[in-house]
Amino acid sequence: MYKVGIITSSDKGYEGLRKDEGGPKIKEILSKFSDKFEAAEYIILPDDKNLLTSAMTDMIDHNHIDLVVTTGGTGFSKRDVTPEATLSVIERRAPGIPEAMRAISLEVTMRAMLSRAEAGIRGDSIIINLPGSPKAIEEILEPILPSIYHGLDILQDKDAECAGQ
Ligand code: MTE
Repeated sequence: MYKVGIITSSDKGYEGLRKDEGGPKIKEILSKFSDKFEAAEYIILPDDKNLLTSAMTDMIDHNHIDLVVTTGGTGFSKRDVTPEATLSVIERRAPGIPEAMRAISLEVTMRAMLSRAEAGIRGDSIIINLPGSPKAIEEILEPILPSIYHGLDILQDKDAECAGQ
């Protein structure tokens, strides 16, 4: 069972001006994989690089979160800094994950090209950025989770084999 930390990056969500729908949507999708993942932490932060960086670091280094899933702040607005926060925390990039996310998403909307989402590895953990809209989360998270699970198994030496799919 892998522990998941959810971070919503949203100025309006943090200030209570907009109900966060991204975090609950991630929880809902994780519950379909309840034998593999559990939502252990969930926080809403403003679009602030330093706060996002320390939250990600804290979850992984102190709270032993295996998978950090962020939502929001991946677009082109000047306040969108989740990818930059992620790049400053990860030790190795995992470009195949955002490539897969965008490949899936481009089937649905050409606007998927506007997400600058990143993913990578810090220690024994993986960080993945998702866009903010619950619709995007729905489209992306469920199809990628089985491979993320396999990636964590390899990262944590639980399964070195890539046999089968
Ligand atoms: N990906 C999917 N699968 N579905 C979507 O509706 N929306 C796009 C993109 N990725 C979308 C998507 C849009 S419109 C934007 S602006 C970017 O994600 C960035 O979103 P964010 O700033 O909320 O992170």
